[in-house]
Amino acid sequence: MALPPLDVDTALDVDTALDVDTALDVDTVLAELTLEEKVSLLSGVDDWFTQAIDRPGLTQAVPSIEVGDGPHGLRKETGVDMMWVPATGFPTASAMGASWDRDLVRRVAAAIGEEARAEGVQVVLGPGVNMKRSPLCGRNFEYFSEDPFHSGELGAAYVTGLQSTGVGASLKHYAANNQEIERTRISVVADDRTLRETYLAAFERVVRQADPWTVMCSYNRIHGIHASENRWLLTEVLREEWGYQGAVVSDWNAVHDRVAALRAGLDLEMPGTEGRTDAEVVAAVRAGNLDEAVVDAAARRVLTLVARAYPGVDVVDGPVMHLGHAAGDRLTDEQLRLLKADEHHALAREAAAASITLLRNDARPAGGPALPLGQNGGRIAVIGAFAEHARIQGGGSSGVDPTRVDVPLEEIRAIAGAGRVSYAPGYVHLPKNAYQDDNVATLAAHGITLVEERPKVARRSATLAKELQLAEAVQHLAKAQPSDTARRLIDEALTAAQDAETIIVFAGLPLAFEQEANDRASLALPEEQNVLIAELAELRDRTGAALVIVLANGSPVTMEPWHDSVDSIVECGLGGQGVGAAIARALFGLANPSGRIAETYPLAIEDTPGFPNWHGERGVVLYGEGVFIGYRWYDALRRRVLYPFGHGLSYTSFGYADLSVEIVDAAVGRVRVTCRVTNEGSRAGAEIVQLYVGDPDAEVSRPVRELRGFEKVHLEPGESAEVGFDLDGRDFAYWDVAADRGDDRLGLWRREAGEFIVEVGASSQDIRLEHTISLPDDASIPGLVRDADLQGVVASRFTQGHAG
Ligand code: BGC
Repeated sequence: MALPPLDVDTALDVDTALDVDTALDVDTVLAELTLEEKVSLLSGVDDWFTQAIDRPGLTQAVPSIEVGDGPHGLRKETGVDMMWVPATGFPTASAMGASWDRDLVRRVAAAIGEEARAEGVQVVLGPGVNMKRSPLCGRNFEYFSEDPFHSGELGAAYVTGLQSTGVGASLKHYAANNQEIERTRISVVADDRTLRETYLAAFERVVRQADPWTVMCSYNRIHGIHASENRWLLTEVLREEWGYQGAVVSDWNAVHDRVAALRAGLDLEMPGTEGRTDAEVVAAVRAGNLDEAVVDAAARRVLTLVARAYPGVDVVDGPVMHLGHAAGDRLTDEQLRLLKADEHHALAREAAAASITLLRNDARPAGGPALPLGQNGGRIAVIGAFAEHARIQGGGSSGVDPTRVDVPLEEIRAIAGAGRVSYAPGYVHLPKNAYQDDNVATLAAHGITLVEERPKVARRSATLAKELQLAEAVQHLAKAQPSDTARRLIDEALTAAQDAETIIVFAGLPLAFEQEANDRASLALPEEQNVLIAELAELRDRTGAALVIVLANGSPVTMEPWHDSVDSIVECGLGGQGVGAAIARALFGLANPSGRIAETYPLAIEDTPGFPNWHGERGVVLYGEGVFIGYRWYDALRRRVLYPFGHGLSYTSFGYADLSVEIVDAAVGRVRVTCRVTNEGSRAGAEIVQLYVGDPDAEVSRPVRELRGFEKVHLEPGESAEVGFDLDGRDFAYWDVAADRGDDRLGLWRREAGEFIVEVGASSQDIRLEHTISLPDDASIPGLVRDADLQGVVASRFTQGHAG
């Protein structure tokens, strides 16, 4: 693999302890290692490093590799709890998901890779491609979408971009890690079709398309067996069916039985256990309970990972560098230059801009819509503390200490002129820095004094455990009527907005709502924000001002107390360090919003998939809704939503025409779809053209439509473009759990003969063109056994399912 040279002329603090100039010869080294040495490679030294081996007699030393968190920017720990090395903070996956832009995701991941290389990190722990089963999952901001095709495509783009820099990816969290409550114990019970079509499909796509260096198993259990010990998941599906050759790494502390995990196919346990589990593995081999060949296979995969990380000087421009600085240090100019901090900040702004989604922009009684704002004109009141301290990311292991953060209020003043803009915070928001809120101060501001308690949550970091408790208290408080402080801030905001022509409210979820290891209890914004917006809406009705809401949140919120009384709603997601400049430009029409939400915004939490049992009980969660999550659920139930999957407006409008659906090869299900998209307005803009397929007459119950293609097209006013999609047999198929594969296993992808509806549209509920085609059965697989005949044919194996 040809790698781009690092853009450095000064090598800082180069690690010269080991000879890493020559690519590792895996076969030779493996043959020379003792059992103990091989086993030592199978768990980390600590949180972030793998084991090095260097002793006389080895042809080559085995260097240690360093891993670091992602996926929205590099999180490299400093050694001081909750302090990280500065890096560029890009939009979170949920926001990048709204961009639907493979090339942008690839470029962002490549930038993260460049920073990782400059920091000496060889594997970045991301991307996450878990499905958003419920909008309440506290980690939804770390995932791209509720659709496996969309997540798989963007996940593959991410891995390709990152690995193009010579830094490995870790595709996570494999699999069915869809809630944070009880995440280390919960047992997911889902039928095989649901797993294959919904919870494994994005992983499969990324593995097949982009070959991530590592796959990270999840914490949870599937059918009672932890993912880390699940042979069906890690070996039968991942390796034997998908052909994965890379290393499987555990999520941090996800291993409960090291020997069972090794047998199941888990190669590298993280973090290290100071030799405790190594001893268990060695003892198992010596006692004849574990075949040494299993150890060899895992050690080979870890050595291959090391070899990929150190490909030799002929391809990498010298060993990686450690910028090396003390906790809390900001970077020097030289270090910022090495990180390409300016260039990457510009990319962070571009990515934030591409993620911004215009949810609503209704015509006002006085004329056109409120947005875009004029660069000249009347007074603007900016309300909301997030305008002063942008919400850029969620909490937990993906947090980044950003190299800088654009301030929305300043960016708005720079465009509109400071004299035109008044500001009031409107609600309590007290950040410690760009990645931690001061929850103690927040509670105190509302008049709550805390009684100090020992943290109950078992986590690596006591500080984090305490933060989680505080976050829960903040979430709880947010449901209450505004406190005296909140009331005062609302009154001050009403005064600041009194004579404004336009009121822009920056609202959204505080950090306490969106973090790893916790889920949300409600979809509502904090009550103080709802009251603030509702009272500003009353002011708007009296004064005739335009009311614009700018949201910052990593997954959907409900808006019923005020939704119909505001003029425009713009969703920024958690937009990373460039979101301040991006939103200001979008508000004033210097950029045209082109994001489309990749997670449905429901009207109420009770409407959401599997709601009554969403996180299960007594250690088990039943995915009873099957493949019907996200838009598949709302479509099947014909349930109204606030904003459908794929929705987003623009300052221009697009026309769709000339649909052509050509069956290229009926036998294998190859179909070519084209249509023409035209920018019919007067501004340049981008449209995301979405292709859905439906199979109305299948033997099994299938979603009304499923996303099978998307393309983002940038068009000048009046310009049009042909957009094309190539579908293959799998795009029409479902996982037939009862089909006999002939290798003693059941289940395969079946394209069943019949009619298929091909739809092209601007969202899952804004279908512009459709055409019905007929395809024959796939003759290469065994014929369909109808439900009525099933029990007689495969009775016992069909009802058994898979184990472990
Ligand atoms: C998270 C992973 C993360 C790892 C290392 C775990 O708790 O689930 O996503 O990469 O910690 O920080």
